[in-house]
Amino acid sequence: MSNEPTKMWSGRFREPLDRTFEQWQRSFPFDWRLLPQEVAASSAHARMIAAAGVLTPTELETTLRGLAAVGTRAEAWSHRISVSSPEPDYITSTQQIGAALVASSPQAEDIHHFVELELTREIGTLALKLHTGRSRNEQIATDMRLFVRDSIDATLYGLEQWLSALIFLAEEAGRAVMPSYTHLQRAEPVLVAHWLLAYVSMMERDYSRLVDARVRMNLCPLGSGAVAGATLALDRTIAARALNFDAPTPNSMDATSDRDFAVEFTQVLSTLGLHISRFAEELTLYSTAEFGFLDLPERFSTGSSAMPQKKNPDLTELIRGKCGRLAGAAATLGIIVKGLPLAYNKDLQEGQEPVFDAADTIAGILSVLPAFTVSLKFRFDVMDRAAQSGYLNAMAAATYLTHKGVPFRKAHEIIGNVVRFALERRVELDALSPQDLQQFGSEFGPDFHEAISLQATIDCHDVVGGTATTRVQQALATAQERAKQHTAARHSPAAEVANA
Ligand code: ARG
Repeated sequence: MSNEPTKMWSGRFREPLDRTFEQWQRSFPFDWRLLPQEVAASSAHARMIAAAGVLTPTELETTLRGLAAVGTRAEAWSHRISVSSPEPDYITSTQQIGAALVASSPQAEDIHHFVELELTREIGTLALKLHTGRSRNEQIATDMRLFVRDSIDATLYGLEQWLSALIFLAEEAGRAVMPSYTHLQRAEPVLVAHWLLAYVSMMERDYSRLVDARVRMNLCPLGSGAVAGATLALDRTIAARALNFDAPTPNSMDATSDRDFAVEFTQVLSTLGLHISRFAEELTLYSTAEFGFLDLPERFSTGSSAMPQKKNPDLTELIRGKCGRLAGAAATLGIIVKGLPLAYNKDLQEGQEPVFDAADTIAGILSVLPAFTVSLKFRFDVMDRAAQSGYLNAMAAATYLTHKGVPFRKAHEIIGNVVRFALERRVELDALSPQDLQQFGSEFGPDFHEAISLQATIDCHDVVGGTATTRVQQALATAQERAKQHTAARHSPAAEVANA
């Protein structure tokens, strides 16, 4: 063993580590992503120990300058990479930055070690004071919270873009109609806007789940020490404030081993993924020749190397597939945490990659989904025809009879017989003559055809949440209003501070 300790913990050891084990247990190859968070958290810790008298004001200043330099160097790399590639896509450049960082410091065990080594290069032995009163256990808990918080903010922003896109489509659709389905069989006509607003509802729940999760996780673990709390009387509010957390965490054992915030984040993304995946599936289906409800935008489709005629819905298929990764991340995290004794255990290191993967996956999805959604072109004529064939007005017809005093069960039976009669003649209900109808009941009057017209079939659903034209117009106006509030809330001066 050399005299220069290359480990943060070598004092107690006399034997060097097995080389393979050493490489295998390192987290730097993936936790380098936490560099900005580690620099921010270390700076907050420096302020806290300076207030406790461990660093003089000059030492604090030097330490903060050194930490900023460590952070800026990495930013400079990322800048070099993004200007050298003509179309920097965020994932490629992220991987490139990572490869460069990891190659630059083969001895760094993890991001905490890396920053310590770099800071020592920057400011000399003063760097060694920074670890006073702290543990990597609280550092990783803090870095991960900061990472998840940033990712929540980015996801909220992406969801706002998707929300605007859906609302734009719903406005464009106006009074256009389409079939709704149950069991994937034609059910009743609905406004296209009503169908789109169903996704707005799902998405708004996901949005509020993310907002909730952000409130719950916004507490600062710094000062929790390794497990029992810092060994110095630190004012933990200094670090909490410096990192825009609402307060310090209340229990050191929980704070150093809790990953609820990551579990919750991935679970919310998993649910969001379920919704996005249903949207993707519907569009995939509706773009087939069998449905023909929409033309896939060429900008977001691909061809086949074998079949010249093909235009494939790769975007929606990939989204459907990637949503599986979100569910996978949530499952992985839950399994890692399950049954861990308190407090920190190295198993927790395995929880980082699913969080990064989920954050990247949702960022990738939301980088294409809003633009794709806005550019969708529906074939309203095809949708309209589909909504008018297949007896989608049968329920409205039964309702007509109930207005004439027929009990619904009886009305259902009568219209069922009328549908069978029409099926045999291969016509729709509106093609039946008054004489045809009279055989089934004396209640059929001259107003029947009007009551089963497409417009009436839509507008009879005149309840809150129904597809009647006026209800959908109200729902759209409400959605627009809420969308404005979301954006305003995130851009309010208070939010700016919280998001800084
Ligand atoms: N890389 C470690 C992790 O991600 C940091 C914490 C290490 N703590 C320890 N006691 N070994 O969990």
